[in-house]
Amino acid sequence: MNTTPDLLIPAGTKNVDLIYRVNGRDGRLYQAYLGARLGNAGDLKQISDAGHLAYATSGTDNLFEPAIRMTHNDGNPSLELKYISHNTEKTDANITITKILLKDPEYPVEVTLHIKSYSAEDVIEQWVEIVQKETKPVTIYNYASSMLHFDAGKYWLTQFHGDWAEEMKIEENELTSGIKILDSKLGTRAHMYQTPVFLLSLNERSDENNGELIAGTLGWSGNFQFVFEVDEKGSLRVISGINPFASEYSVQPGKPFKTPSFIFTYSNHGKGPASRNLHRWASNYGILDGNKTRLTLLNNWEATGFNFDEKKLSDILGETKKLGLDLFLLDDGWFANKYPRNNDRAGLGDWQENKTKLPDGLGYLVREADNKGVKFGIWIEPEMVNPKSELYETHPDWILKLPNRPEHYFRNQLVLDLANPKVGEFVFNVVDRMLTTNPGIAFIKWDCNRMMTNAYSSYLKDKQSHLYVDYVNSLYNILDRIRQKYPHLPVMLCSGGGGRVDYGALRYFTEFWASDNTDPLERIYIQWGYSFFFPAVSVCNHVTSWGRQTLKFRTDVAMMGKMGYDIKVNEMSDNELKFSQAAVASYKRLNNVIWQGDLFRLISPYEENRAVLMYVNGEKNKAVLFTYTLNSRYGEMFNRVRLQGLDPDKIYRLQEINVPNEGRRFSSAENGKSYSGDYLMKIGLNLDTRSPLSSIVYELTE
Ligand code: DGJ
Repeated sequence: MNTTPDLLIPAGTKNVDLIYRVNGRDGRLYQAYLGARLGNAGDLKQISDAGHLAYATSGTDNLFEPAIRMTHNDGNPSLELKYISHNTEKTDANITITKILLKDPEYPVEVTLHIKSYSAEDVIEQWVEIVQKETKPVTIYNYASSMLHFDAGKYWLTQFHGDWAEEMKIEENELTSGIKILDSKLGTRAHMYQTPVFLLSLNERSDENNGELIAGTLGWSGNFQFVFEVDEKGSLRVISGINPFASEYSVQPGKPFKTPSFIFTYSNHGKGPASRNLHRWASNYGILDGNKTRLTLLNNWEATGFNFDEKKLSDILGETKKLGLDLFLLDDGWFANKYPRNNDRAGLGDWQENKTKLPDGLGYLVREADNKGVKFGIWIEPEMVNPKSELYETHPDWILKLPNRPEHYFRNQLVLDLANPKVGEFVFNVVDRMLTTNPGIAFIKWDCNRMMTNAYSSYLKDKQSHLYVDYVNSLYNILDRIRQKYPHLPVMLCSGGGGRVDYGALRYFTEFWASDNTDPLERIYIQWGYSFFFPAVSVCNHVTSWGRQTLKFRTDVAMMGKMGYDIKVNEMSDNELKFSQAAVASYKRLNNVIWQGDLFRLISPYEENRAVLMYVNGEKNKAVLFTYTLNSRYGEMFNRVRLQGLDPDKIYRLQEINVPNEGRRFSSAENGKSYSGDYLMKIGLNLDTRSPLSSIVYELTE
């Protein structure tokens, strides 16, 4: 056996070391170190204790939460893993994959830990492959993607939770001894109540620029679980992976079982750098075409709901052009004939154009868009079915529902059984047929409006506990096929607002719908939450009629990410139209800075009655600064705001954009002025807009 005392296996990045140790005495693999890069990793040999088990098993001597638990063919409910070998492969200048093979000495079970390090971004991705060579299937009950250990005095966990229309609420708490679990059991979507992301600060709370923390997320669009267990010695283990809930899986002999990826970054300079690491990683690797351009769009959901016809849509296509946007996105309601989709109670599953609303089909709309000089995109929700549909009538066995129980609806619909390959084929064909019949379709919004309840697959028979895992893998399989054929078609990920936002799905999607709540005041908090993990290029924010705020405020809030519109353009006043046209033009000029620039969160809406953030481009010669006043109390003063990320030696001119062409009660005092980066970062700007729900956006140019 290739074990020697103190064999160290490094798997870090430019600034972070993750180092494993093989203990020569027991042949087991331990996590020796995770933190800021060491000057000399060999120093670890001086530490006498081996560390914590890198991937703790169950059934032998582990008394805490295991990463893996299984039962063998003979009924033995234990697993022991010993180090066998490892190899390190550099796939390019930036990426290194380390594979560490572990094996049970008594049973033919192998577990390979994969650690993929993205050096420049300081991001590490971990997953595990389990292979068993017994004679019959073995059952695995826990099968984490990652297990990490920390030895700090205190641990501060930030979670992001919520519900429909109130996604990504931020809450930070100190971990106490015992177990804290963040998880979801929704099946079709990663979240709604808890998002598969967390920040974990060590020793003390971190802020944007100070503190040691990791930011982690699971790339899985289904049930996830993060376990945080503080033991009797104050050590913390963090176990991340698919939620074991109702999901024991029987692994066939010789057939590898692969877990999804846990993705994390480490920072010892606070949350800001952690977010920027994840943003860069996401743009380069995590999101489809993450560093390419995006289409700005006008959506009709808020403006028309289900109530439209060809004439109305044709007018909206003209309005898309008038606003200066690239694409019109036709939302829900365009399909089904026997049970027309005129509300959310019917038609889902019958993906043929509704002949009353669209007598000339989608082809007409694609051509009409072309005539008007814009592109055309379309909404689908191919994983779902209304009981009032032809699909339900023809294929009752394609639907997830429990025998001997009444059907349980959410938004009047049911989930299709993607575990069944025939259903997978159907879903692929819905998309493929639409795109081959209408090659002009330039954009898709892929919705998913319910979670699983009464989850039972008639296809899976006695393997019901495979459903949660097989559903998501089948979805990925469909998306893989779609991407092979349509590699760069922009697709928006949507799930009744932001119910399915994770890096497992975002490999296939160019952007996501953050929330159905577009009230800009609420939206500031929601977008603030997403900004910790997802780059602005992926976060779709639309200007709508929600909220009572000015059009300027609504526009400024949407502009901090991927701006779009979902509004009745024909009801805009001349002034509003002119303002919006100018805003779209400014956005198109600046979107590269917002989409690809570095984000600096300057003042949190959770800490003050305002939110301030900025983006700076790579050359540091252009920046965009957003400031929003949420409320202002009598006599309340807002301090100057020090900017970040600029070049101290450059001189920047500030120009206000999105200037309202109707009067307002304050003036943007800094407009037109020039300051050095040094001044802006040390003395800062007076951004006191004073009136509640007001905002200013400055463009900074060297
Ligand atoms: C939920 C989405 O979040 C909305 O944007 C819209 O597409 C509706 N579904 C349509 O049913």
